This record gives sequence, structure tokens and C-alpha cells, in this order.
Amino acid sequence: MPELFTWEFASDPYPAYAWLREHAPVHRTTLPSGVEAWLVTRYADARQALADQRLSKNPAHHDEPSHAKGRTGIPGERKADLMTHLLNIDPPDHTRLRRLVSKAFTPRRVAEFAPRVQELTDELIDGLAARGSADLIHEFAFPLPIYAICDLLGVPREDQDDFRDWAGMMIRHGKGPRGGVARSVKKMRGYLAELIHRKRAESDENATDLISGLIRASDHGEHLTENEAAAMAFILLFAGFETTVNLIGNGTYALLTHPEQRERLQKSVRAGERELLATGVEELLRFDGPVELATWRFATRPLTIGGQDIAAGDPVLVVLAAADRDPARFTEPDTLDLSRRDNQHLGYGHGIHYCLGAPLARLEGQTALATLLTRLPDLRLAADPAELRWRGGLIMRGLRTLPVEFTP
Ligand code: HEM
Repeated sequence: MPELFTWEFASDPYPAYAWLREHAPVHRTTLPSGVEAWLVTRYADARQALADQRLSKNPAHHDEPSHAKGRTGIPGERKADLMTHLLNIDPPDHTRLRRLVSKAFTPRRVAEFAPRVQELTDELIDGLAARGSADLIHEFAFPLPIYAICDLLGVPREDQDDFRDWAGMMIRHGKGPRGGVARSVKKMRGYLAELIHRKRAESDENATDLISGLIRASDHGEHLTENEAAAMAFILLFAGFETTVNLIGNGTYALLTHPEQRERLQKSVRAGERELLATGVEELLRFDGPVELATWRFATRPLTIGGQDIAAGDPVLVVLAAADRDPARFTEPDTLDLSRRDNQHLGYGHGIHYCLGAPLARLEGQTALATLLTRLPDLRLAADPAELRWRGGLIMRGLRTLPVEFTP
């Protein structure tokens, strides 16, 4: 039985997941927080569990409310006004909120945002290109999604560096001072609530930002309340930030450690092709995706997953990273193959909570990687992979730093 949640596990959890898939596919374990939960590691079970409505997202269904702290990983979440976001609710509330946000956060809005994402990406590379070395996490993967989501939401440019600071504090959470994290969340929430209030009062019909879209969105005469819009803006920021940092970070790292695959992709993007880039980003999500474990689920009644009985009230964690390396579903699952076609990975989840931001994440991931490979063609790792540190959080998987070198 491999040890879980150690330092070695954080840097490479895949051998342990392979063992679990084989010997204990639905496995009860004690998490570092002391909470007992079931880990679901096989693809077929994972996919089924993600879509199973008997598994609730509402933490009230947990049989140990005293352990409620930090369930979905959002610091300070227990405060009531943060609770009513998509990842914590079930139908019919979820259906209503998801329908409303989908009216504002459309694939078209994301597609129209593409030139801005390219511009942001270029600006960040301009900032480091002359130096010959950089930490790609702090100088590139981290700021890009923050500025992108702030722009999309309609946070004025002059306020976006505040968000960068607050988000920086949040991403270091666990390592940094706890009070600082709570303060950052509070400031971010306060800022968004005020911005929503202001935009609502201005009610500018021509405004194209997402917050104005959220305010205007209506479904059968229903609108988001001001509180719901604030919770929605917050979850968009929260769900769309560290995930994308890790897509860019884990993705670049995988490319730098698989030179043949990287060369293929580099040739393809420099020839102006998009196909390998598109399948490649999906493969990077499958191979080493940002979300290691899907966010919490709780059994509302006794059920069976993969032959294992689960009691009502038990927490269930679907291990996306394990499911996406399941040899029963993927040929040569431990091989990175950027042109993989049969690739229905679970990196964005599955079912009604399937990632709302997937089109934006794809856009950012594809733009970031293509631009890095084009503008810094001899990009290389400036550290021994064994020395790189991975953040040891429960839900997310990502590097703390990614030192690189290149010709200025
Ligand atoms: C949900 C992954 C980027 C917004 C999810 C879920 C996953 C996921 C796995 C489902 C969680 C569960 O069922 O427990 C990712 C990955 C991303 C990414 C890998 C980047 C590569 C984004 C972005 C946004 C976003 C950019 C928005 C700006 C959301 C929201 C949900 C969600 C709002 C909740 C949907 C619901 O409950 O109905 N994401 N995400 N995500 N994601 Fe993403």
C-alpha cells in the first residue's frame, strides 16, 4: 500500500494512483485534514460518480460538519455568502444559476476575447524576453489568467494589480500567513460586490463585460440577485485562476521534459497550424492536469461505486488524475501523445458540474503555449526536475516554480 499525501506523492502521485486503480479502486483514506473520504480512481467509476445525482455538492450532507473547513479549497468559504456558488449546490438551484451564467458567459464571448488574450500573453513575454531566464510560474503562468479574467469580468485595468496581489496571497495559502489569505479573500469579495453594485446603478446597455452580462442575464424573467452575481464573479475568478496557472505550468513542464513531443508541436505552431495545438492541450490536461481531485461530493443515501458500498453522509473524492491514466480507457496512458485522438479525459469534470470555463481555459492554454514556443524557441528547463517543488494542496496539482532559460 503506497503512502499518500507525502512529499514524494505530491511530486509524482501517478505510481500510487496506478496501485490504487489495480488493488483498491474505491479506497477509504484519511486525508491530511483528518477527514475520512473515499477515493475513486478508475475511469469508468469516476465518470459515473461525477454524474451521479445521489452524490451531492452541498456540504450540509457531510456527516461530520465539524470538519467542514476548506472543503472545496476556497479559504473562508464557510461564510454564508460564499457558499451559494455553482460548485456547492445541487439542482434545482444549480440548474437555475448555471442557466443564468451560461447566458452571459458564452463561447462567443470567449472567442471575441482571443485577441486580448494574445495581447496579454505578448506583454508578459515582452517583460521577460530580454533577460534570458525567468520563473515561468510567477512571471507568466500566474499573471496571465488573473489579468484575463479581470478583463473579461470588467475590472478596470488600474485595479487589476490589486487582484494580482490578492490572488498571489491565495495561491501561496497553506504556506503564507492564514490571516493574510482571509484578508485577501475579503478584499476581493468586497471589491467585486462594490463593482457589481456600481455597474448595476450605471446600467450601461452597451457594456460588453461579463459582470454587466451577469447583471442583465435573465431566464424566464428571473435574474441573478446582487449577492448571487457577486458569488458568481468570485467563483469564476477562483475556479478560473489557479487551474489555468497549472495548465500553463504543468503543460510547459511536460513539454520541456518530452523533447520529441515539444519539437513536433513547435514545428506545427510555427507553421501556423492549429490542430496539434488543440489535441495537444487536451492531452496535457489528461496527462498531468491542473485538477488532481474533483471538488467534494457527499453521499445523500447509501450507494455502491465500483462494487464498494458507501454510507450516506460519506465524502467522495473523484481522482481525475488517476482516472485519466486508466489503461482500461486510454492506450499507453503514461505516454504523452499530443496527437492523441480518442481522448475523452475528465480534466474538466463531467456531468452537470462540467467546467463552465473550459472554452476560456482552452483559449488561454493554447495561446500561452503556442506563444512561448514561438517567441522563446530554445526554451529549456533551468533546474533538475527532481528538485522542483509541487504544491501539496488536495484538489489542485501544480508547480511552485518553473525556472527556465532561453536565448534573449
Ligand atoms: C468546474 C477544471 C478553468 C470555471 C470545473 C470542474 C473541473 C474544472 C474539473 C468540475 C469540478 C467538479 O465537478 O467537482 C478546470 C480546468 C481549468 C479550468 C482544468 C483550466 C485548465 C476554468 C476557467 C473558469 C472555470 C478559466 C472560468 C473563468 C469553472 C466553474 C465551474 C468549474 C464556474 C463550476 C461549474 C458548475 O459547478 O456548474 N472546472 N477548470 N474553470 N469551472 Fe473550471
